[in-house]
Amino acid sequence: MSENKYYNIITYGCQMNEHDSERLAGMLEEMGYQHTDELEKADIILLNTCIIRENAELKVFGKLGELKRYKRENPDLIIGIGGCMMQQDEPVDEVYKKYRHVDLIFGTHNIHHLPNLIEKIEETKDRVVEVWDEEEGLIPDLPSQRESEHSAWISIIQGCDNFCTYCIVPYVRGRERSRPVTSIVEEAARLAADGVKEITLLGQNVNSYGNDLEKKSTFSRLLEELNEVDNLKRIRFMTSHPRDFSDELLEKIKNLDKVANHIHLPVQSGSNKVLKEMNRGYTREYYIDRVKNIQAEIPGASVSTDFIVGFPGESEEDFKKTIELVKELKFDMAYTFIYSPRSGTPAARRDDKIEDKVKKERLNRLMELQNRISYEKNQKLIGTTQEILVIGPSNNDPEVYEGRTSTNKICFIDKREDLVGKLVEVKVKSAKSWTLEGSLIE
Ligand code: 5AD
Ligand code: SF4
Repeated sequence: MSENKYYNIITYGCQMNEHDSERLAGMLEEMGYQHTDELEKADIILLNTCIIRENAELKVFGKLGELKRYKRENPDLIIGIGGCMMQQDEPVDEVYKKYRHVDLIFGTHNIHHLPNLIEKIEETKDRVVEVWDEEEGLIPDLPSQRESEHSAWISIIQGCDNFCTYCIVPYVRGRERSRPVTSIVEEAARLAADGVKEITLLGQNVNSYGNDLEKKSTFSRLLEELNEVDNLKRIRFMTSHPRDFSDELLEKIKNLDKVANHIHLPVQSGSNKVLKEMNRGYTREYYIDRVKNIQAEIPGASVSTDFIVGFPGESEEDFKKTIELVKELKFDMAYTFIYSPRSGTPAARRDDKIEDKVKKERLNRLMELQNRISYEKNQKLIGTTQEILVIGPSNNDPEVYEGRTSTNKICFIDKREDLVGKLVEVKVKSAKSWTLEGSLIE
């Protein structure tokens, strides 16, 4: 291969996708490509797509249109599109027919084939489409080009078996497949030896980790093993499904010193009727009990959640139940989404959809309430001592450094290069809804 070939990857969606992009980057680097931020300089541009809500899809089509000019300027440029959107027939057809400048279409189950697919394009000068319908076992361990030196993602379970009625994920990511414990622990040890201080274990439902393994294991046991890895300082994980969040796991979070005190536990709705129609597998009472248990067992632990507003048939009464639940549980943080019908899911076939105006109005009410609660909770941290892992310059202001507390709150401190990658203690001086400001305790 000739010298100095460049790539750029544009990623949409969740951490899972960001991690897949790190793996795509890892393979490209092994092929001799280097990363560039300048699209005009790139020899290959990949889009890693998301399909979870309609606006994610619209963004991708907009970007594809934009990329046409780079192809016009450099006809040898390879443009590829992969990720969850490409696991569905309609978007694949649309890209193939309407976006003739796209050379490569690939799915979520075959990312490890990227090098072969690129070679095929180079040899044949033809467009290549390879989307596997089904997972063929686990995607093998791949090299990752990590974004951060000190913090890394580790995928522990792929796919999802839950089939929440609004969600497209099980259709595009396939059934649950856990990675063997040894392979995860080895990866964690390798990363720690490489200077990584914090790992985040990724899965659509980490709590069902191990059920499908020949040598059965559980998420709690995996945490126990990871807690023993030398030089690793912090272990995070997401996402937890409330139904599968066990007492045993709570015990581990409490007692294992490296496991961070933050739990992301999506509730989606506070109404039993809506929860049932979403096929979430728990009631409002069960969920409240779980969170209260967490808050009682691990004082100071943070709990974040996801909400969907405007699920088909959601009445004002149902929505008020969500508001009441927020007031009662006082989450540290919440991601709030407007329901977006996804073709192929049961909820999308319902004819009792909620008007856009009503959905937006509910979203605003929920966001306003949550912002206020997050602000009040963070205000209470002023004057306390927090341990933060210093990540580096803040994106918004490079003169200020940024770290995260064990509870996953962003905390700004004065610039100090020697602190990057270190766990340090700070005293919280001020707080907003989403960020803290602290001063180093020396
Ligand atoms: N519409 C809106 N939000 C959705 N989510 C998943 N599917 C949809 C959908 N069709 C949200 C859920 C989930 C988060 C990752 O995305 O809240 O927890
Ligand atoms: Fe989607 Fe439900 Fe699986 Fe989460 S648990 S990925 S919301 S189907």
